[in-house]
Amino acid sequence: MVLSPHDYYLLLVQVLKALMLFPTIERMALSPQGKLMTPLLCNFRFIAYLPLFLLSLLPEGLKARLIRAALGSIPSLDQFVVQPTVGLVVFISANAMYMGAQEMRKVLERDNTTIRNNLDKLIFYYGATDHWCPVQYYHDIKQDLPNGDFRLCEHGYRHAFVLDAGQEVAKMVVDSTKLPLHHNVTRLHRAASCPAVSLPHTLYSAFSYSVTGNINYCFI
Ligand SMILES: *[C@@H]1O[C@H](CO)[C@@H](O)[C@H](O)[C@H]1NC(C)=O
Ligand SMILES: *[C@@H]1O[C@H](CO)[C@@H](O)[C@H](O)[C@H]1NC(C)=O
Repeated sequence: MVLSPHDYYLLLVQVLKALMLFPTIERMALSPQGKLMTPLLCNFRFIAYLPLFLLSLLPEGLKARLIRAALGSIPSLDQFVVQPTVGLVVFISANAMYMGAQEMRKVLERDNTTIRNNLDKLIFYYGATDHWCPVQYYHDIKQDLPNGDFRLCEHGYRHAFVLDAGQEVAKMVVDSTKLPLHHNVTRLHRAASCPAVSLPHTLYSAFSYSVTGNINYCFI
């Protein structure tokens, strides 16, 4: 029998609690952002490959400056995201766009069975203005599974919370999961750079993990 990475993951890690942050676990293509992005990701993403390749040839400092300018509209931008974004945009964006296209095609109906079977371990944290996951999805799931722990963000954090609220969200995660202090979650980073993208689609798109120099704890 060949074990998949996901099987290994289950063998190695006993998951006590999983916190779904801004969970894109259903109907992604029907969300406002999904309606906009599905045709781009599925049909036109190849057009972006040449400009991205050309971008990759620029010197590091110039790339960082361009990224800073692109993210300039975010008032309290977390400076820690700039350098990883340079690497991400240039080397990983083709994969990220492919992943996005797959998400649009495959993240369809909510996986009620998996959620129901693990309901006591799951906490769902929905954004109030998440264009990948309208508030209606929060109301729907809360109504379908009245015993679940579903929370609606009251702080206005964006879907890409790592851009300016990584520390606040990390604190919220620690508070709501009562992790012992040595886990020391100082800042949360999100899916695109996560190596564990082989999790089942219901779980992987909302995958986040803590970074305190080394990766030591996973959040879903
Ligand atoms: C899960 O439940 C919702 C609401 O009842 C339903 O719309 C959806 O189709 C269900 N998902 C699956 C995979 O059956
Ligand atoms: C957590 O880690 C950060 C960075 O490594 C360090 O500055 C901070 O003091 C640590 N906090 C605790 C409570 O260990």
